[in-house]
Amino acid sequence: MDRSAKLILEGKEYDLPVMEGTENEKAIDISTLRARTGYVTYDDGFGNTGSCQSEVTYIDGEKGILRYRGYPIEDLAEHATFAETSYLLVFNELPSKQQLSRWSDRLTAYEMIHQDMRHHFEGFPTESHPMAMLSAMINANSCYYPHLMNLNVAPDSSKANKEDFIEAAARIISKVRTIAAFSYKKHVGHPRIYPKPELEYTSNFLHMMFSIPYQDYDAKPEVVNALRQFLILHADHEQNCSTSTVRMVASSGANLFAAVSAGVCALWGHLHGGANQAVIEMLEQILASGETIPGVIAKAKDKNSSFRLMGFGHRVYKNYDPRAKILKKSCDELLNALDLDDPLLAIAKELEEAALKDEYFVERNLYPNVDFYSGIILRAIGIPTNMFTVMFAMGRIPGWVAHYKETQANPKWRIYRPRQIYQGQVLRRYVPIDQRENA
Ligand code: CMC
Repeated sequence: MDRSAKLILEGKEYDLPVMEGTENEKAIDISTLRARTGYVTYDDGFGNTGSCQSEVTYIDGEKGILRYRGYPIEDLAEHATFAETSYLLVFNELPSKQQLSRWSDRLTAYEMIHQDMRHHFEGFPTESHPMAMLSAMINANSCYYPHLMNLNVAPDSSKANKEDFIEAAARIISKVRTIAAFSYKKHVGHPRIYPKPELEYTSNFLHMMFSIPYQDYDAKPEVVNALRQFLILHADHEQNCSTSTVRMVASSGANLFAAVSAGVCALWGHLHGGANQAVIEMLEQILASGETIPGVIAKAKDKNSSFRLMGFGHRVYKNYDPRAKILKKSCDELLNALDLDDPLLAIAKELEEAALKDEYFVERNLYPNVDFYSGIILRAIGIPTNMFTVMFAMGRIPGWVAHYKETQANPKWRIYRPRQIYQGQVLRRYVPIDQRENA
C-alpha cells in the first residue's frame, strides 16, 4: 500500500506521509507542510484535525463505539467502580486488587481540602454559579501544593517524580467532589459536611451533598449505582473542547491544577458540558408553556430561530451516542426504583421519538447525546440543575489528568500553537485623533 499522499500545489508535487492508528484510523501528516510549501491547512472548528496521537480513548462515531484504553464503555459501566476507571485512565491499565486498594486509600487520604480554603468559599457571593466556584477552587489548589507545580511525567522520570504525579492526580480527583459538594452547600447557605473516609467515592460525594448536621443522608443503592455509571460514562471523551483545552494549557508547561481549571471553564458552555443543564431547562420550558412536540421540532429545524434541540447531535457521533444508550436504561431503572413519575421524562421520550422519525434529524444524523438523559438522572437524585455541569466535570477529571500526563510525557512535547488565516485590515498608518474621518 502506498504510504504517502500526494499534494499538487502551484504545479509542484509533494509527498505527505500517511499515518494509521491502531484501530485503522487514517491521517495525512502535514507537520512539515508550512516549512516545505509556505501553506498551512484551514479547518474551522478542527473537525478534520488530529491534534495529537493519543492512547487514552477510542471513539468510532459512525458505529457508536467508545472505549477507554481499549475497554468498551458498556463493560466498565456495568462492572467497574469510578475509582477503578480513574486508575485505568490515569495509569493505562486496570488495577490489581492491591493497586486499587492503594489508589482508593490515596483518594481517601486527599479528600479534605486545605482548611484555609474555607476563606475562598466564604468570599464568593451566595448566588455564585457552582462552575465558577469549581474552576476557581481547583486553580486555588496551585497555591497550596507548591511541590506539585513542576511535575515530571516523562516515562524515565525518577521515583520521586512519579510519586509527585500520583499525589497530584489523586489530590485533584479526590478533592473535586469535596469542592463540588462545598460549592453546593455554599450556594444553598447550608453548613459544609465533611467527607467520611469509610465511604467509597460516589457515596462519599452524596453524603457531603445531602447530609445535614446530625442527619446522615441514606443513599439508596440505585442512586449510588446511577451516579457511579454517570461518572464513568463522563470520565473521558478524547479530544473534545475541554480536553483539548487541558492539553493546550498542559502544552505550555502550566501545572495540573491550572490546566484542569481551564478545562472546567471550557466545559461550562451550553454546546459542551452545559448542555445537560440546558436539556432540563428546555424540557421545563416545554412543560410550562404547553408547547406541542411538533411545535418544538419545527422550531429546532427553523433556520431563522437560534433554538436547537438540546441533548441532540454530536460532532463525532453520527449514530446513537453509546453513553446515551446506557443512561437511558439507567434512567428508567432509577425512576422505577425511586417510584418517581417525572413529567419531564415523558416529554423527553416523546421528543426523542419525534426527532428520530423526522427527516431533518435523520438526514443530519442527529441522535440523543449523553446529556439528553443524564439531566433527568441527576434531577431524580436531587442534584440541582445548576450543579449538573459540575457533575460532568467531576466525572471528567480522570480523563483530563490522563491527557495532561500524555501531553507532557510525549518525548516530542512542544507547545500547541495553531496558525490562522488572517482576514483583517492590511497595513495602515496611525491617524491623529482630530484628523480621523469620525472626528
Ligand atoms: N438541533 C437542531 N439542529 C441541529 C442540532 C440540534 N441539536 N445539532 C445540529 N443541528 C444541525 C445544524 O443546524 C446543522 O444543520 P445544517 O447542516 O442545515 O446547517 C447540522 O445539524 C450540523 O450541525 P453543526 O452545528 O455543524 O454540528 P457540530 O458538530 O458543529 O455541533 C453540537 C455539534 C453538539 C454542538 C450540536 O449538535 C449542538 O448544538 N447540539 C445541541 C447541544 C448539545 O446537546 N451539546 C452536547 C454535546 S454532547 C456532550 C459533550 O460531549 O460535550
